[in-house]
Amino acid sequence: MFAIFVLFVVSLADLTLQAEWTYDRENQWPGVCTVGRLQSPINIMSQETILDTNQVHIRGPLVFRGYNDVELVASNNGHTLKWAGVRNDQAPILSGGPLRGNYTFLQFHFHWLSEHAIDGMKYPLEVHMVHIKTGLSMEEAMERSDGLAVIGVFFMVNRGYESAHALEQLAPFVPYIKNSAQNQTESQKVDITRLLSYDPQSYYTYKGSLTTPMCQEIVTWIVMDKPLFITSDQYRLFTNVDVGGDFNYRSLQHLNNRVVYRSVASCASLLAPTFPGTLLGLLSCLSSTLHAGVNKGVGAVWNIKRKLFGDGVKKCAKVA
Ligand SMILES: *[C@@H]1O[C@H](CO)[C@@H](O)[C@H](O)[C@H]1NC(C)=O
Ligand SMILES: *[C@@H]1O[C@H](CO)[C@@H](O)[C@H](O)[C@H]1NC(C)=O
Ligand SMILES: [Zn+2]
Repeated sequence: MFAIFVLFVVSLADLTLQAEWTYDRENQWPGVCTVGRLQSPINIMSQETILDTNQVHIRGPLVFRGYNDVELVASNNGHTLKWAGVRNDQAPILSGGPLRGNYTFLQFHFHWLSEHAIDGMKYPLEVHMVHIKTGLSMEEAMERSDGLAVIGVFFMVNRGYESAHALEQLAPFVPYIKNSAQNQTESQKVDITRLLSYDPQSYYTYKGSLTTPMCQEIVTWIVMDKPLFITSDQYRLFTNVDVGGDFNYRSLQHLNNRVVYRSVASCASLLAPTFPGTLLGLLSCLSSTLHAGVNKGVGAVWNIKRKLFGDGVKKCAKVA
């Protein structure tokens, strides 16, 4: 009996605008991209987030099923590098946290620099793991405010052997999809848990949109507050990828009157020392400063962060 491999490379590109759009002409993006009020990405000011102690919004822990061994194919769609699931019947399932019901994993892709910012800090790299509400077709999901759930995880660049772990399985494939004209890779087994932060119950969550046209406002965002580490060699692989420019991130969008919630675990972990993002983005971002910035120690940035935004620990304790 042969297993039937059903290709379900439902790429976001299929449902976004096919016509050319670019990151340097965001003001020409169509429709809701420019007039929407629930757009992503945003700058998350940690002191203005709401700790959901009463579990109104975040009702329990996030549950990750089947993320350890997932068959994926990698490709370059001209805007990002994407690893998409091959077998629908074995797709990972996400549930819990702010989500109601199950969400089926579709694909993950990368942005460099990060799209979200925390307290005005951008990171060199952010991965987005896109999930669709289980049982819905892509067209149905597009019509619902809860159609997609996307996990965002930040990466910091750090020298050292241990830093290679998160991207170890993906990095060897990057040179083969460096150019957007190159074909997708053979399928590979990937342990996606390597891309989750080491504390995946520690996150921010809010209602937002896709960050590429058509910018549909259908995404429950779950943004991990603990970055992972990668090596500078791994980061350099991404900067050599052709995505129509040096970077592939959308500019920060207005929060308007949205509330960003934080998980209880994220508050508890504030008591432990954390690493700040690279001070970029809001404080003017140049590619030359990026390369300097990502290789620099984090001590100086941490001090600036404390100066600008104060001590988050106190505020967190007060809310709790
Ligand atoms: C979610 O998936 C799990 C296991 O795959 C299943 O047991 C559960 O009933 C599902 N929940 C819903 C709401 O469909
Ligand atoms: C991609 O694959 C197709 C079919 O396997 C082949 O015809 C085509 O030449 C390939 N393109 C590139 C750029 O490798
Ligand atoms: Zn994305």
